[in-house]
Amino acid sequence: MQTNIQLSPNYAQCNCRVYLHGSIEDGAIPETTASENDFIQRQRSLKKDLITLNRYDTVIFHYFIKTEEPASKKLELCRKAGSLITGEANSLAITDIALICSMQFRDEVMALAEGMALGNYQFLKYRKDAAEKKNSLNNIFICCDGVAQAEVNQLKAVVDATLWARDLVNEPVNKLNAEQLAESISERMREAGGKAEVLNKNKIEALKMGGLLSVNLGSIDPPTFTILEWKPENAVNTQPYILVGKGVVYDTGGMSLKPSASMDTMKCDMAGGALVSAAISAIATARLPIYVMALIPATDNRPDGNAYVPGDIISMFDGTTVEVLNTDAEGRLILADALAYAKKFNPKLVINFATLTGSASRAIGPQGIVAMQVNATEEFASLNQSGDNVYERLVQFPMWDEYKEQLKSEIADLKNIGGPEGGAITAGKFLEHFTDYPFIHLDIAGPAFIERRDSYRGQGGTGIGVRLLFDFFNKLSR
Ligand code: BES
Ligand code: ZN
Ligand code: ZN
Repeated sequence: MQTNIQLSPNYAQCNCRVYLHGSIEDGAIPETTASENDFIQRQRSLKKDLITLNRYDTVIFHYFIKTEEPASKKLELCRKAGSLITGEANSLAITDIALICSMQFRDEVMALAEGMALGNYQFLKYRKDAAEKKNSLNNIFICCDGVAQAEVNQLKAVVDATLWARDLVNEPVNKLNAEQLAESISERMREAGGKAEVLNKNKIEALKMGGLLSVNLGSIDPPTFTILEWKPENAVNTQPYILVGKGVVYDTGGMSLKPSASMDTMKCDMAGGALVSAAISAIATARLPIYVMALIPATDNRPDGNAYVPGDIISMFDGTTVEVLNTDAEGRLILADALAYAKKFNPKLVINFATLTGSASRAIGPQGIVAMQVNATEEFASLNQSGDNVYERLVQFPMWDEYKEQLKSEIADLKNIGGPEGGAITAGKFLEHFTDYPFIHLDIAGPAFIERRDSYRGQGGTGIGVRLLFDFFNKLSR
């Protein structure tokens, strides 16, 4: 369900065109009759930014960029306009669209194309009427002098990766268990030119990854631990950046069973694993000169005769003992093993992505990412800037040591839950225990999966985090 994006200086043959404008005063509106011009003026006086001229054999859109807004907001409005255009084009059975603007609007036209391509996403593979339901829009032609082929290639790589991450999230656990996830991730990484290794259950047992193994006890399927690597010869860094992603392919809560309604969307609990895999594969596809790794521990979390239970004391990969007081706080257990494992690579920075807590989701909803950092002030500022650029915004939460008090256990080194307040932070503090390097933790429980369509973010898996990471590493490698 990919939309082709390509540069094309010649758009005359395309009977659907989008013109991007700064303001109406910039000059005459191209391709318009006097009456159409009147119509545009009236629409503008009603504060409409997107105006459609439907001439039946040709459809022309005029989009007026909100030039007065700060860059981040302005580009987000372009993405949203792109998504609206995609919707209209599909309702008119249009297959090809040309985007036309002058050089000064090159960032805007790229954002608009991005919004169009992301907004054109569908997940139809399990529908008999897929052919009938499939969107008509196939090709986006960018006709703008300042845009280089390399930029279009990057846009394609990142859009592609985002949509692939959505696919993984939208696949239910009966179609994508931990082994199938690991297989799918590895295949994509190798196709992109990177390395992939999957540690199987024997290996995970040999390594004594007690967090991952305990969560997996109730499962009928074995766990996996996937290691991805992109290490180009011209890398700007020698110590790797390591991405860690939660790969809980389904979270029932385990013996601390979730109420039915909270379980409905829990196929999304591997969104962190999906997005870090998608991001590193996009980085490889785009050949960014940066040394990056990704670690994805994966299993489902279910009750069973052999499942771990509240009260169990488990030994983690690094030897820490944990008193499990809620089997639904499973993400931090599998991630703790991955974070401790990351130490052996002497990372420059580790960034963790997880649908970790309902607390994060309740705090800020789907509009942003709850973020924490330890010893990574500068990197955090840069990631935060990327968040604004791509509109996957971060909200920094504190990592004050007082929160760690809540994790004290009488009989083990730690317990796996804190009190009823500040749950996203106590989860972050739990993770911090297993790190000894600059660390950023991002809780995506709010934005990873949305039940109703939100513009180009679509419905279901959003693929959040892929564009964020690509922007961050792209800046870093320049
Ligand atoms: N996967 C959930 C968190 C989640 C909630 C993700 C909503 C997406 C949307 C996580 O494993 C979980 O269940 N966390 C518990 C932790 C609690 C038991 C300390 C939670 O947040 O309720
Ligand atoms: Zn859980
Ligand atoms: Zn979970």
